[in-house]
Amino acid sequence: MTMQAAATLGLLLITPLNPSLFLQNPCLSQNFLGHYKNGDGTSSIFSLNTPECIDTSSELLMQQNYQALFSAPGRGKRLVWLEQESVEESLLEQDHEAMEAAFINVLSVTDGAVNGASQQILANGDPNSRVLFGSSNAVLLALSPEEALSIDTRLPRFWKSTLVPETPSEYRVVSEDNVKRVRHALSTLKFNPEVAALVNNISIPQIHNDIRFLTGEDGKSGIVSRHSFSAGALTAAKWIKGRIEETGATCRFMPFLNGFAPNVICRYPSLTKTDDLVILSGHYDSRGSFGSARAPGGDDDGSGTTGILSIARTIARRRIQFHANVELVAFAGEEQGLLGSRAYSRQLRAQNASVVLMIQADMTAYRAPGEPLQLGLPERIGTPDVTNLVGNISALYSPELTVGYSSACCSDHQSFIEQGFPASQVFERAGPIADPFYHNSGDLSMREGYDVDQLYAIAKVQFASALHVAGYEISE
Ligand SMILES: *[C@@H]1O[C@H](CO)[C@@H](O)[C@H](O)[C@H]1NC(C)=O
Ligand SMILES: *[C@@H]1O[C@H](CO)[C@@H](O)[C@H](O)[C@H]1NC(C)=O
Ligand SMILES: *[C@@H]1O[C@H](CO)[C@@H](O)[C@H](O)[C@H]1NC(C)=O
Ligand SMILES: [Zn+2]
Repeated sequence: MTMQAAATLGLLLITPLNPSLFLQNPCLSQNFLGHYKNGDGTSSIFSLNTPECIDTSSELLMQQNYQALFSAPGRGKRLVWLEQESVEESLLEQDHEAMEAAFINVLSVTDGAVNGASQQILANGDPNSRVLFGSSNAVLLALSPEEALSIDTRLPRFWKSTLVPETPSEYRVVSEDNVKRVRHALSTLKFNPEVAALVNNISIPQIHNDIRFLTGEDGKSGIVSRHSFSAGALTAAKWIKGRIEETGATCRFMPFLNGFAPNVICRYPSLTKTDDLVILSGHYDSRGSFGSARAPGGDDDGSGTTGILSIARTIARRRIQFHANVELVAFAGEEQGLLGSRAYSRQLRAQNASVVLMIQADMTAYRAPGEPLQLGLPERIGTPDVTNLVGNISALYSPELTVGYSSACCSDHQSFIEQGFPASQVFERAGPIADPFYHNSGDLSMREGYDVDQLYAIAKVQFASALHVAGYEISE
């Protein structure tokens, strides 16, 4: 590959995650394109888009045990990272679809055209699509923008797509300033009976009602799907906004991409003067079975979204006011690759916002028969102080949960970590995904294994974390 080609096209570097190395290289640290799940670890993508940048990186590139270095695709192409989700073996065995088998073939191809049966699935027949990189459970593709944004509707069930951003951003680590409040909460943490009374006030019957509205099971909402492009997503967005506004928050829609349902962002202003911001979130968009228009998303992520709503309702019922700004956020575009949260975290970074805590709830309701109630913490993508705080809070306020780590990966909290904000995730299981209706049109709330008690216990943890980190008053 000549320098000239590089200068016109730019290079893309895929490398194992190694913050210390890249912090020393000003060029790479300005040209970060995100973290991606690859094998049992995480890879990062960087754009080398000027000759100077390639020059200053050349020594590093020679020493570095990187995974791939190649020409960036021309304008008019979008990069999409595909990864196989971490799921229980038993689920994989259930899934003998020919599509999945055909799809796997593409993994051995590197830097070549997408061909064979995978053509239709991956590229919707577009002959100009390319495979740029492949490993045993991840692929990087260059696709037309239309195909890149809709690929989630064609993927085999246990594969997940992430749209690589068009423009790089600065590689950031969490600043001492931003993590101060979490560290303080962690070092002074002890059981507070008042906090326990507040989080125990979350209403389980209300959770049953809310989740059935979102899945359409109540027969009233008319929601068939909450896929980011669906009419149901807009119905859900309006409804979520209305319900949270009723609790005294100021809510807005944040559109981020044409044709996508918006993020719903609701804010409770701080009682005391501070810019510090605590965010609790879930994603309300969903994904169904290949070829089906039905996508109830009861667990993924109706559970996290309902948890957020249950917290809002409790804030109002118990007249809670915080000593930090608190936002409850329902993201869209998660299933197309964290699109809504990436837009919001970038906006917050551009505004120099002081995000001091972000906790994403994604899939909190499924419990395999015979297993205890659980809380899964992220094995890889999570700020360690936040993950520790969440685990410690769980032991205090939801002792019924068995806490462990999960390899299931990469929800909207990742977008915040990429912008240097302290963030983590709460998930339903210690271990990989076991929900047999994951990414399936049967992901309803009234089914075996859908456990509202576990959803409730995890929402309590998310809520108690915000109460401890933000501080609060009860108004009379
Ligand atoms: C929550 O608190 C309200 C107001 O104090 C009370 O009326 C209600 O019964 C409580 N609900 C639960 C589930 O504890
Ligand atoms: C960003 O915020 C920090 C702390 O909140 C402040 O010290 C700094 O001056 C701000 N920078 C800009 C460019 O506004
Ligand atoms: C709770 O905090 C302690 C001390 O900070 C830490 O060692 C422990 O791993 C934490 N627990 C969890 C489940 O994260
Ligand atoms: Zn999800």
